[in-house]
Amino acid sequence: MATNTQTFVFDAYGTLLDVNAAVKKEIASFGETGEAFAGLWRTRQLEYCWTRTLMNRYANFWAVTEEALDYALRSFNLDQDRKLRERLLKSYFELSAHPDARDALRLLKAKGARLAVLSNGTNDMLQAALEAGGLLEYMDAVLSVDDLKIYKPDPRVYQYVCDRLDVTPEKVVFVSSNSWDLAGGSSFGFKVARINRTGGAREYEFADFHSEHRSLVELAELAQ
Ligand code: 2OP
Repeated sequence: MATNTQTFVFDAYGTLLDVNAAVKKEIASFGETGEAFAGLWRTRQLEYCWTRTLMNRYANFWAVTEEALDYALRSFNLDQDRKLRERLLKSYFELSAHPDARDALRLLKAKGARLAVLSNGTNDMLQAALEAGGLLEYMDAVLSVDDLKIYKPDPRVYQYVCDRLDVTPEKVVFVSSNSWDLAGGSSFGFKVARINRTGGAREYEFADFHSEHRSLVELAELAQ
């Protein structure tokens, strides 16, 4: 029988982990172009996930992260700097957590919620980054799309949460900073909570966003 425990399922990259952290550490190499570089790396990384899914040419998230980084390095004429590439990838593998993540998980756990991650990241990437940020100890499950070889927001990925955690969709609060991911989770039937740290505009208006928060620690208000 499916569990009755309230389950919070978190996206990883952008939500628990700071996708700009690797570039921020290399400020000496990037200066004012750091933000644009990090943005290009991230948008290409996501685009490659979606296009590869549509083309039926799956490669795991580490591989698309490298492909996207190589494109960004070429675009900024930095592709000769192999040491910079190496350092960026090393930082990305153990990507820093957002400062609010640990407290939020501790508060939710104290309220008896079950906690999990559902991410496009590979199992190795997720274990390394969640462990480095002190988040792994709070997780009841860490689920990677790599088990399915399909990327979010395909509904089969959200279904994987229900299958693995033996939970019905309405018992899941799916938490993400990525609106495309929230739209996917909501279309599947999850209650979705948007983490909007930067005050970004609403998008995917066809989807039902249950709540919006400036910080992950506000999620404790949703725990029953
Ligand atoms: C994730 O962690 C890519 O942010 C996305 O699944």
